Amino acid sequence: MHDMKFGIIGLGGWVVGGHLPALTELGIKVDYCVDIDEKRVKDFSQKTGCKGYTDYKEMLRNENPDLVLIAVPHSLHASIALDAINNDANVYVEKPMATSFSEALNLAEASRKRNKLLIVGHEYRFDQPVLIAKKLIMSGEVGKIYHMRGFYIRQRGIPTSPTFLKKDLAKGGVVFDIGSHIVDLLLFLSGFPIPRSVTAKTHNIFSEDKTKFSVYPSPTLPNFKIEVEDFGSAYLNFDDISAYIEVSWASYIKENRREMVILGNKGGIHIENATLNFIKNITDELFISSPLISQQRGSLYREVWKTVMDSLSKGTVTYPLCTVEQGAIDIAILEGIYKSASENREVKLDIPEWLIRQSQQAT
Ligand SMILES: NC(=O)c1ccc[n+]([C@@H]2O[C@H](COP(=O)([O-])OP(=O)(O)OC[C@H]3O[C@@H](n4cnc5c(N)ncnc54)[C@H](O)[C@@H]3O)[C@@H](O)[C@H]2O)c1
Repeated sequence: MHDMKFGIIGLGGWVVGGHLPALTELGIKVDYCVDIDEKRVKDFSQKTGCKGYTDYKEMLRNENPDLVLIAVPHSLHASIALDAINNDANVYVEKPMATSFSEALNLAEASRKRNKLLIVGHEYRFDQPVLIAKKLIMSGEVGKIYHMRGFYIRQRGIPTSPTFLKKDLAKGGVVFDIGSHIVDLLLFLSGFPIPRSVTAKTHNIFSEDKTKFSVYPSPTLPNFKIEVEDFGSAYLNFDDISAYIEVSWASYIKENRREMVILGNKGGIHIENATLNFIKNITDELFISSPLISQQRGSLYREVWKTVMDSLSKGTVTYPLCTVEQGAIDIAILEGIYKSASENREVKLDIPEWLIRQSQQAT
């Protein structure tokens, strides 16, 4: 897209440390930046040469950007994304795209009505082991999937920003934070089967214990209470597939684990951190093989932003980016997890047919 006007809303740790290096490397110019924190606006505009704002509505009104990246506290994602779409901008919104399914549905409907792209920040899809696993599944090597497992568990990894820890800003804790990624990955790999119900538990174990933060020891540990859960586990029930997920910011475990297992009737996939194993019978012997992943195509976000630019020029969200409909199904499941945990019962999910159909088409 020529002369694209690009604005960023929210100039915190993830924009500065995650997105900006890739944007700079690819020569994608940031024209406008917004944060309610004036110092962050000043620092960011000095660094990038963009025009700074402290009110995103003013930026949208004055500048009419073509694309906005939104990376603010979770509770604000959906309303800011909606304002951006209604101002005719395409949107890249960080996960979780919303904190309720109804907000997520509104976004899906608004982006369709106004013909704007909305991309959700699930960049782990670009991990080489994930893309190779997806290829194996698509080609039929795994056969019919019947069970999936996803773990994203940390020893010490409670975030330090209020964005994640204060209930009014974050709405939920680890389930919204990294649970959103692990649910997205399982949905993406299995081609968006229809989720039917959820049974879950969450725990807030370390709210008083500052030694479990990701930055430790740190001179700047926050002095407020952690108001959200730090552990979540859920059993997800699809039509023909069962799935189990477990996420935690902090646990007494031997080591950090980001792991996915996909079981099919012809083969199994085991992704553990950056390693992929494919398990299959050849003749009557059981083989465990792993692909060569040494030729990584570069940083994850470089690939993400190249694909975002490609999407803008084609006017459609390019694979493997997460579409608004797919992001909305993720939110339906996360909402179900919170509901099940608070009401201590199985929660049925009722997801509109069109959302499922469009999500399946995009994988
Ligand atoms: N995709 C990923 O892997 C990944 C990783 C980390 C964070 N994130 C997401 O990115 C988002 C930001 O995370 P972070 O670590 O940068 O948090 P952060 O707390 O460092 O940054 C959030 C920023 O938003 C600003 N803000 C708050 N309200 C605002 C408003 N109304 N208008 C403009 N700015 C506002 C805050 O002042 C702060 O600078 C979160 O939603 C988080 O879940 C995604």
